[in-house]
Amino acid sequence: MDDQKQFLGDSPEFLSVIRAAGLVAPTDATVLITGESGTGKELLSRYIHNNSRRRQQPWITINCAALPESLAESELFGHAKGAFTGAALNKKGWVQAADGGTLFLDEISELPLSIQAKLLRLLESGECQGVGHGQISRVNVRVVAATNKHLPDLVREGGFREDLFYRLNIVPLTLPPLRDRLQDLSLLINLFMARVSTKNALPQTRFHPKALAVLRAYSWPGNIRELRNFCERVSILNAGQTLVVDDLPVEMRQGQDVPWAGERAAFVLPDEGLNFLQMERDLLDQALRRSAGNKSRAARLLGFSRDTFLYRLKKFSIPV
Ligand SMILES: Nc1ncnc2c1ncn2[C@@H]1O[C@H](COP(=O)(O)OP(=O)(O)OP(=O)(O)O)[C@@H](O)[C@H]1O
Ligand SMILES: [Mg+2]
Repeated sequence: MDDQKQFLGDSPEFLSVIRAAGLVAPTDATVLITGESGTGKELLSRYIHNNSRRRQQPWITINCAALPESLAESELFGHAKGAFTGAALNKKGWVQAADGGTLFLDEISELPLSIQAKLLRLLESGECQGVGHGQISRVNVRVVAATNKHLPDLVREGGFREDLFYRLNIVPLTLPPLRDRLQDLSLLINLFMARVSTKNALPQTRFHPKALAVLRAYSWPGNIRELRNFCERVSILNAGQTLVVDDLPVEMRQGQDVPWAGERAAFVLPDEGLNFLQMERDLLDQALRRSAGNKSRAARLLGFSRDTFLYRLKKFSIPV
């Protein structure tokens, strides 16, 4: 897998999607990938193809939003010579081009209703018929579809065929938004920052812990794409620096519940909560290690007096 295709995450939310994708990949089951914009749907679809038995076979991506309705049928299913003005030759469609491999239908919600019926037929029976073709041909295509829309809503509004929805939704995979898998944030930041600095031979940019906490509190509406673009920008414009809160764009700092903007709290409670006693013990250990056992210095690192620090060491039976 090349560098740009690295698919990283170690949050339980991400790993459970990857686990399910790993199970479905080697089968021929249709997969529907949902998730907000920029959550990695396209990357996940490649992951499925690359881990399937079809990995050496064609991989064809169609962005349904970019298919003009008038051309959609012939683009997808091909056409016969003379089927319409300008159809000078027989032409194969993308579906035939994907024969033996995987067809990725991105933004599936945008597929015109008239084509949805033909897609359903393809999924049910492998049959396809080009525009103006008398004969029906058969193809062996595995379909992976993706959308950032809520398809059941579209079905209710009449914009998407219900039967097609159920046929696509055999194995649904939902990528969580970045704000719901903050555990992945540091890993992804490191990946994107390292990628840009290596590529451009620039010194690596870092974040002050407080700046990092602002990034954790931000809602990331553009998800991983927004994070990647942001990391690329600061890696270039602030190469080699350690960015503090004031260096961050206003929209990331504004409207945030960033504690040190007011009370200067130094830590943001993770959404999933934490084990306070364990954290306290870990911090005491780390402070001792970092100060090479010098208790006054370790106490200062944690903002305690030496006595308070010693008291806490005793509490955890850490030898003093
Ligand atoms: N887990 C990940 N690890 C590394 N990079 C990722 C990950 N997820 C997404 N990316 C990167 O984020 C960007 C957006 O991903 P992708 O294009 O797959 O999102 P998408 O869900 O298809 O977005 P859209 O709905 O806007 O089409 C890409 O550059 C992709 O490489
Ligand atoms: Mg996409």
